Amino acid sequence: MRHLLDTRSLTRDEAIRILDVAEDMAATQSRQVKKLPTLRGKTVVNLFFEDSTRTRISFEAAAKRLSADVINFSAKGSSVSKGETLQDTAQTLEAMGADAVVVRHGASGAPRTLAASGWIDAGVVNAGDGTHEHPTQALLDAFTMRRRRYGADASRGRDLAGYRVAIVGDVLHSRVARSNVWLLDALGADVTLVAPPTLVPQDVSLWPARVVYSLDEAIDAAPDALMMLRIQTERMSGSFFPSEREYARLWGLDPVRFQKLPNDTIVMHPGPMNRGLEICAAAADSPRATVREQVANGVSVRMAVLYLLLAGEHTETETKEDR
Ligand code: NCD
Repeated sequence: MRHLLDTRSLTRDEAIRILDVAEDMAATQSRQVKKLPTLRGKTVVNLFFEDSTRTRISFEAAAKRLSADVINFSAKGSSVSKGETLQDTAQTLEAMGADAVVVRHGASGAPRTLAASGWIDAGVVNAGDGTHEHPTQALLDAFTMRRRRYGADASRGRDLAGYRVAIVGDVLHSRVARSNVWLLDALGADVTLVAPPTLVPQDVSLWPARVVYSLDEAIDAAPDALMMLRIQTERMSGSFFPSEREYARLWGLDPVRFQKLPNDTIVMHPGPMNRGLEICAAAADSPRATVREQVANGVSVRMAVLYLLLAGEHTETETKEDR
């Protein structure tokens, strides 16, 4: 793997390979000493032009557990706020010897621009670009679903054929929804998008998903996973729903709806959650919620991605010895 820019271009087998390596990584994370020597001498740069807590920390933890050196670069307080371009920033990082650049950017397509530009030799990982994609989030979500479905030991090699996922809320502004739709389709899952008409993208008929406009209808259909999305007010210029109270009443997973969900339906959220808006505390804190599991699994999945990007030249035997 040279870069990870999206899930749309991942095949079923490529996706399963990443998830399987993530299982191997997860197995090492229950040991007392979590650190592996695999990426010793490699440098990973976290280049974040947009705010983030969990994704940046997660990539940092993943790189450090593989013994890579990590440089964190956040655009606030850097030369970017003095007007430096993506090109100049990238070339600075290249000069510092970056082997991989993990980039989050407000503009859809920025990671692809970086990967295709020839400005850098490093592998590029998209950590969320505008409303386009967030591939590692979708991979950690799929990893979480697969584990909840089959258990950690029986997950390897398997896809999500027939698994029914409802993705609820601000689909229009969500890169998480997009990455999930493509990946879940590749893995054979069955996806329903649930949103107010104002938050459904115009080109949705081209997506491998069905759309319903009622959360109650989606809950009655008893999905295997209900994924709640954050309302992305920072990406909204106009008004997409009458009021927060109205949104919560119609589209929020409130205690009454939560009660109606089958006992084995898992409740997912990529974080950060707006408690009381798209999700109530009872749902967020219940054993059926996978929110904390998703965060933990995120480290294993990002370890797998960095490993596949940076240790790809090793042979199978070398890497096993390395571990
Ligand atoms: C997501 C993001 O940034 O796209 N968060 C994350 O990576 N944990 C989802 C969101 O911000 O709502």
